[in-house]
This record gives sequence, C-alpha cells and structure tokens, in this order.
Amino acid sequence: MNQHSSIKGRGSLIERATEIYDFNAALRGRAAPAVDVPADLPLAPVAGPTPAAFVTDAPGAPTFRAPAWTGPVQAIDRIKLAEDGFLRPDSAVTTMSEEFRLLKRDLLSQPRNNPRGNRILVCSAHSGEGKTFCAINLALSLAAEKDREILLVDADFGKPGIPAQLGLEAGPGLMDALADPMVAIEDCVIRTDIPSLAVLPAGQRSNNDTEYLASARTEQLLKRLTDGRPDRIVIFDSPPLLAASPAAVLASHAAIALLVVRADKTPESAVRDAAGLLKGGAQVQLLLNAVRFNSGGRRFGSYYAKGESQS
Ligand SMILES: Nc1ncnc2c1ncn2[C@@H]1O[C@H](COP(=O)(O)OP(=O)(O)O)[C@@H](O)[C@H]1O
Ligand SMILES: [Mg+2]
Repeated sequence: MNQHSSIKGRGSLIERATEIYDFNAALRGRAAPAVDVPADLPLAPVAGPTPAAFVTDAPGAPTFRAPAWTGPVQAIDRIKLAEDGFLRPDSAVTTMSEEFRLLKRDLLSQPRNNPRGNRILVCSAHSGEGKTFCAINLALSLAAEKDREILLVDADFGKPGIPAQLGLEAGPGLMDALADPMVAIEDCVIRTDIPSLAVLPAGQRSNNDTEYLASARTEQLLKRLTDGRPDRIVIFDSPPLLAASPAAVLASHAAIALLVVRADKTPESAVRDAAGLLKGGAQVQLLLNAVRFNSGGRRFGSYYAKGESQS
C-alpha cells in the first residue's frame, strides 16, 4: 500500500466522470459542424521557413525541427497561484497534485502515433467550469516531468485568462500569428522561470476567429511549434464549446480533448451536446472537476459517486 492508494482505489478523475455521465450516449450525438472558410479570408503563408520545409516525408526533403524559444523569461507569480488554489510548483504532495499526477500519467501513457499526438485540448460546455484551472494545473504537473517541454496555449480568445493567472505580461499571440503572416508564432511564446513551461497568449481577437482556425494555416503553425520535437506537449485552453465554434475546430487539431465537467454544475444534457460537437475530432475524455468550499478549503475532484463515503 502506498500513500496514493486511496485515490487509485476510487479511480481517476476521468474514470469517475465517465461513471457519473452516460458518456457513450453522449458520443452518439451529432457530428461536429463543418466550417466554411470564406473565399476572401486573407490566408498568407506562415512566417518563417517556406512551407516546403514542413514536408518531411518526401525523399531527400529537409527535416524541420521546431525552434527553441528564445524570448525573454518572465517569472510566474507563485503567490497568486497559491492564493487561487492552484498547484504550487515544487511544493508538497497534496490530494490535488496527486489527482493531476494520475491524469498526467494517463495522458503520457497513451500512444502517440499520429501527427496531432502531443496536442491536448482542455474544453468544457460552458465557461466557469474549470478549463483554465485544469489546463494550468495539468501544465504545471507535466512541467515537472524530466525531458518534457510544455507549451500552454491560451486559445480562449473571448476570455483569455492564462497569462494573468500566472502573473505574466501577455504580448501578441496565436490569433495574431494566424491573422498576420509577418508575425512569427515562436516569437509570441513567453518563456517562464519554470524552464520546461512556456506560454502562448491568445492574441488579438478578430471577427473571423473560427475561420482562421479552420484554415490550413493553423495546422502549419502548429507544426511549426512541434515538428521534430516529440517531447514538446501543447495544451490548449479552449473557449466553451456550447458558446463558440472555435473550440470544435481546435479539437480537430488535437489528439485528445479533455472535456471538463463539474459534477455540481454541468447538466448531463450539456455534456452530451458538448461531446457531440467534438465527434470526429480528438479522442474525448471527460475530466471531473468538482469544486467544493468547506472548512478545509478548496477541493479538487471531491465528488464521490453515490454510495461511496466522503473523507
Ligand atoms: N477545482 C477547483 N478548485 C478551486 N477553484 C476552482 C476549481 N475549478 C475552478 N476553480 C475556480 O473557478 C473559477 C472558474 O474556473 P475557470 O478555470 O476560470 O473556468 P473556465 O476557464 O472554464 O471559464 C476560477 O476562479 C477558478 O480558479
Ligand atoms: Mg478560462
């Protein structure tokens, strides 16, 4: 018996979420909507190397290795993280850090045999369900892994929150690089004082967010961030699925979509609708985020299925 056996014994947050919600039924929902890209959308090639540099399967073609981040390093506000109930990098083991460690192990153990393999989308039906909370905690947990590099992408263009929550000053970001070919995406990446953790801000919102994301340029840009770097994991904090269409489009670029549900808040119909929008894209996994405020403070994943006792 080790100290984590009580958590293991009741299953991971993914398993518990799947028990609570009739997830298979949700996935039988409707398919993801097709997104039309208007003919007049200005889609210029990606800044940096010519697109030919991305062709890695042609015989004799140059192999492209995504650049290392070179921008200035900013310090993460650990006090703010602690005050807001987030994981504290380098601090003692807590129930929550163990929950995220299990989630991380689960994700790292999944085979990565497709080009989107290292991309994880953190999404939810509505806002306020804990996407940003889970995305940041997962990134912090993964950043503690040896030989892994984490890029946390703020892709909630309507309500970007990652740089502020981490105490970082956001500059241009993903949407700027998508909209303007003169913006090199790697120059938008903020390095942090956790060497294995970098952040890509959302950038300036446009009226054509979904169309930009649905364009071929998105895949080119994402390849530019990850090609030739199998140890680089990209985590996207997405917009709410039921409020905006970019989330479903982003899911088509990811290998795994973690659909955050709050047992105390997300109705099953919303989970079903949200999962339906993800159909045909990433592999979908429910992630249980239950928030309770009690005398012991904030808790993560504190929901227990009926019949189980609460400790
Ligand atoms: N498990 C949790 N424990 C404590 N606070 C949480 C938890 N999940 C979410 N929160 C808090 O609830 C609020 C909404 O969460 P947030 O991650 O911003 O939602 P979203 O990104 O889905 O809109 C934030 O203040 C966040 O810090
Ligand atoms: Mg958010």
